[in-house]
Amino acid sequence: MTASILLAIAGWNAQEWDDRFRALAPGRDIRCWPDRVGDRTDVAYACTWNAPPGLLAGFPHLEAIFSLGAGVDHLIGDPTLPQVPVARIVDADLTRRMTEYVVLHVLMHHRRVARYRAQQGERLWRDHHQPAAREVAVGIMGLGVLGRDAAAMLSHLGFRVAGWSRTAKPLPGVEIFHGRQGYDAFLARTEVLVCLLPHTPATEGILNLALFRQLKRDGALGGAYLINAGRGKLQVDADIIAALDEGSLAAASLDVFPTEPLPPVSPLWAHPNVTVTPHNAAESDPRALVIHVLNQIARFERGEPLEHVIDRRLGY
Ligand code: NDP
Ligand code: OXD
Repeated sequence: MTASILLAIAGWNAQEWDDRFRALAPGRDIRCWPDRVGDRTDVAYACTWNAPPGLLAGFPHLEAIFSLGAGVDHLIGDPTLPQVPVARIVDADLTRRMTEYVVLHVLMHHRRVARYRAQQGERLWRDHHQPAAREVAVGIMGLGVLGRDAAAMLSHLGFRVAGWSRTAKPLPGVEIFHGRQGYDAFLARTEVLVCLLPHTPATEGILNLALFRQLKRDGALGGAYLINAGRGKLQVDADIIAALDEGSLAAASLDVFPTEPLPPVSPLWAHPNVTVTPHNAAESDPRALVIHVLNQIARFERGEPLEHVIDRRLGY
């Protein structure tokens, strides 16, 4: 009898994951919380997204936990999380989806899509000076798997790309900053700030008014732009509104929010210079990702180390 796999998924369509796991691992006992949990003592692997805190502590023989997304903050926040390795998704499908989102929104601000859309509403034929990509400074906070791919693509398009991370992460064609010592200089040269940081105690609330005021406003675009597809708790929504209203931000593209779904009363919905997307910058697609998790389990059962295991002390 092979070890059982538990799927504990909230907020996504768990059936799609269940179907895919069963199709690709027909010999496995796949359980699906909350309806088909069975005997908790023979579950060895938990594959989770936003499972309620405390749930996994009820499985005494867990050997590994797999986040079904790139982020692990949904797990790390659980003080009862079993002390077994936690691995996350690193996969080309997910990475490319995020790069699409980042490139789309950088280009949207760069090519003044909102302004031309408004002009179209007035049937107004008016050309505005268009800077070249090489004149525009894009800065990416978080030069991990996702940040590096987006940086490489933006650099390929000709943007002046810089990245900021906790430790120095060299990347061809990208200006590198890191840590507290690189923070001010990174912001001062950045017109379009892309945030792809994880949510940890060290990054919570980092996207605040003080940071927005440090961005470069007198560059080729004539204003500063924010694109956050990292996590909602990195940003202070009221500070984004304040920054837009005072002009330290010209516009913002937000995929993530401190409270999701974004409450209908949030002023972000109606702000003319905010673009809201429903946390789908890089969707986890079971058609691409289940095989990745099954390969991880196969490695583990061959006695090889799991890949992409997080460091619990850092929280990512
Ligand atoms: P990685 O772990 O590969 O990269 C994280 C990066 O953030 C690293 O460069 C790391 O620095 C940096 N970092 C972490 N903490 C700090 C800090 N305190 N100061 C400065 N830099 C820091 O993660 P991924 O690139 O795979 O994913 C990033 C995040 O994107 C996920 O955690 C998730 O929150 C979000 N995400 C959002 C999605 C969406 O649909 N909106 C989809 C997928 C992911 P260092 O390299 O030095 O360790
Ligand atoms: C992720 C996400 O972390 O979808 O993968 O947010």
